Amino acid sequence: MHIMIIGAAGMLGSKTAKRLTQKGQLSGKRIERLTLVDVVEPTAPDGFAGTADLRVCDLSVEGAAASLMAERPDIIIHLAAIVSGEAEADFAKGYAINLDGARWLFEAIRLAGDAYCPRVVFTSSIAVFGAPFPDRIGDDFILTPLTSYGTQKAIGELLLADYSRRGFFDGVGIRLPTICIRPGAPNRAASGFFSNILREPLKGEDAILPVEETVRHWFASPRAAVEFIVHAAEIDTRLLGSRRNLTMPGICATVRDEIDALRRAAGDGAVALIRVAPDESIQRIIAGWPQEFDTKRAESLGFCADASFDDIIRIHLEDEMQGGRS
Ligand SMILES: NC(=O)c1ccc[n+]([C@@H]2O[C@H](COP(=O)([O-])OP(=O)(O)OC[C@H]3O[C@@H](n4cnc5c(N)ncnc54)[C@H](O)[C@@H]3O)[C@@H](O)[C@H]2O)c1
Repeated sequence: MHIMIIGAAGMLGSKTAKRLTQKGQLSGKRIERLTLVDVVEPTAPDGFAGTADLRVCDLSVEGAAASLMAERPDIIIHLAAIVSGEAEADFAKGYAINLDGARWLFEAIRLAGDAYCPRVVFTSSIAVFGAPFPDRIGDDFILTPLTSYGTQKAIGELLLADYSRRGFFDGVGIRLPTICIRPGAPNRAASGFFSNILREPLKGEDAILPVEETVRHWFASPRAAVEFIVHAAEIDTRLLGSRRNLTMPGICATVRDEIDALRRAAGDGAVALIRVAPDESIQRIIAGWPQEFDTKRAESLGFCADASFDDIIRIHLEDEMQGGRS
């Protein structure tokens, strides 16, 4: 089994490579080779028993994807993207990476020849949906994105479905919830504060809350997201029929729920580090975001959400802070 991860230097890419290393096999087949691709140099996961190839490649450049297909990976996990805030700030860059990058990749697979038909896992987003929403968004809700990022992901979903229908590859698109707690430094995602208000106080540092505590949203831990990716790589796609894109299960929580979970995990002192500083531009963006989903379809196909927001914090402490707080 040869698995290629594109966007392998990123948060989910590096965690997925680590998880595949731990598993050692996928669908009962030994993982002999990992090809890790990113526009910045990826790192090989510690302890991988097979061959790890590291490739620096800008997927948004025409022709780049074709060179990657020469090795015919059995599974391609396509994660390379820029986040919502950056795609909104730089229209051309967002389309070049998030849309053209996916399209060049899909075309390179189609043109590889020899009846090559790999599994492709594509990470979409709940940003493919736009207000007005029902209270719970079901699997049949129309895609009406209200951001350039959401539009790029929605087009990617349609391409994935059509290339799969035509038999060029075997695609699975997973709409990830907002990942929380995102480790590392804050990024340019408008959703960053959902993680910042937990991650920084857990380290004993200040964080800014730019919205009301009543704001409600849809979350998954990085660990749950990696399991979604791995499950999408293994699932029997005959069960999907022609609907190749699925909304992933998550935890529906308000900012207040997050803060209550922080208090249970780290006490009032940690909560006191959150400073409220309303930011109208963030509030405006958040107002157009979905809050809760009915994900019966993904759940029936074996995708599992985190158990609670307390669990989301516990996972961060275990995976990023050696189980404790600083
Ligand atoms: N993190 C979230 O909350 C979230 C939610 C929904 C969907 N997603 C999607 O999941 C995927 C992974 O997210 P993440 O949080 O790991 O993001 P990330 O920003 O940590 O990683 C993305 C990686 O893609 C790479 N990349 C960017 N442009 C590239 C290019 N032109 N060629 C090759 N590589 C390029 C970056 O260098 C980076 O390492 C993305 O597709 C993202 O849109 C993430």
